[in-house]
Amino acid sequence: AYTAEPFVPGRGGLTALRRAAAECRGCPLHRDATQTVFGDGNKDARVMLVGEQPGDQEDRQGKPFVGPAGRLLDRALEEAGIDPSEAYVTNAVKHFKFTQAEPRKRRIHKAPTLREMTACGPWLAAELAVVEPELIVVLGATAGKALLGSSFRVTQVRGTVLEEEIHGRPERLVPTVHPSSVLRADDREAAYRGLLSDLKVAARVLA
Ligand code: URA
Ligand code: SF4
Repeated sequence: AYTAEPFVPGRGGLTALRRAAAECRGCPLHRDATQTVFGDGNKDARVMLVGEQPGDQEDRQGKPFVGPAGRLLDRALEEAGIDPSEAYVTNAVKHFKFTQAEPRKRRIHKAPTLREMTACGPWLAAELAVVEPELIVVLGATAGKALLGSSFRVTQVRGTVLEEEIHGRPERLVPTVHPSSVLRADDREAAYRGLLSDLKVAARVLA
């Protein structure tokens, strides 16, 4: 089976993890992507935000949530009362998955499979073990399935505080929609207000 496990160092902090993740060959996604996009932020962060996978901009820049979805997320976090610079941001899958009709054509994001999410899980587990956040904000269905299993339904649990065992540790989580889904929504204003109201639940947990 695909797995990042043999690439994850048994000890060391975020710097060691990031360096090792750059060499991960745990699943085929490393082949076409530019680079590994590891999580970013402070090891003492109280809140960890988990997205799906890097997008086009993240793949080029090597940092999570630096494109349009990231800008929207930062704005919503600030508005909810969570300082984005004090959060740790990462993704369930650390390489960009895409389709491309022809070379030099636009790269179109493709959802990772359950196998790829499972393969990449050891990196997320290692990040959780180092950062030990007080709260995990789950951004969308893919992150939810990666953390809570394939029966996760974002519409059923968004904006609620869950207590679950994740990779052997008790965690507190607040799920919400993925910021990209706000950008794609027919009614963007309403979708943004929904995201904001969920993030305010997270802010209250951290208060
Ligand atoms: N979408 C994600 O899920 N993660 C990113 O880093 C960027 C966009
Ligand atoms: Fe490794 Fe994850 Fe990249 Fe697959 S997606 S190669 S498991 S870092």
